[in-house]
Amino acid sequence: MRSDQIVSNLIVLDHPLIQHKLTYIRNKNTGTKEFRELVDEVAGLMAFEITRDLPLEEISVETPVTTAKTKTLSGKKIGLIPILRAGLGMVDGILRMIPAAKVGHVGLYRDPQTLKPVEYYIKLPSDIEERELIVIDPMLATGGSANDAIHSLKKRGATNIKLMCLVGAPEGVKVIQDEHPDVDIYLAALDECLNDHGYIVPGLGDAGDRLFGTK
Ligand code: URA
Repeated sequence: MRSDQIVSNLIVLDHPLIQHKLTYIRNKNTGTKEFRELVDEVAGLMAFEITRDLPLEEISVETPVTTAKTKTLSGKKIGLIPILRAGLGMVDGILRMIPAAKVGHVGLYRDPQTLKPVEYYIKLPSDIEERELIVIDPMLATGGSANDAIHSLKKRGATNIKLMCLVGAPEGVKVIQDEHPDVDIYLAALDECLNDHGYIVPGLGDAGDRLFGTK
């Protein structure tokens, strides 16, 4: 039986391998190389769960022994949409599980004056309306970027969207649940809160800086 904690459209993947690796990801003494490798591995493990409901169809193959009726994915198209830049750190791990997925990119910032989201970069597969899209951002903090990215995808015709993050704060989860009740949220951990600087507590620090070795 699956032990994932599922509340409404929030799914926390508490698989032991994910939780074990997340402990090392959280540790401030984990260096860039190991951090990157662990994020990549956890993303692959999370992809296993996030694709659990992909439709299958029955086909026949000749085994060396006989004809077997067996199953194959029934052509559902997947699109990965990492939010720049930290989302990039999870893409390769997912692509190893779903190598035929197309990858679009969204870069956003919030205008400090108007507080409106500004898309500084967006490049998407041409057929996003036909794809199941997985929006990827390691940290669901205030929920601002994920919310804006999802609105942006919906504006362009996307109807089938999931959100995949490593760690979420209740504040960010609420924003997505309120604004996008149709979007399932997959987390490796639901943390306690945000601090005054907008960091998730206990969190893992700045995911982008830790992935890319910047400060
Ligand atoms: N973004 C991060 O990288 N870390 C946080 O804790 C919050 C937002």
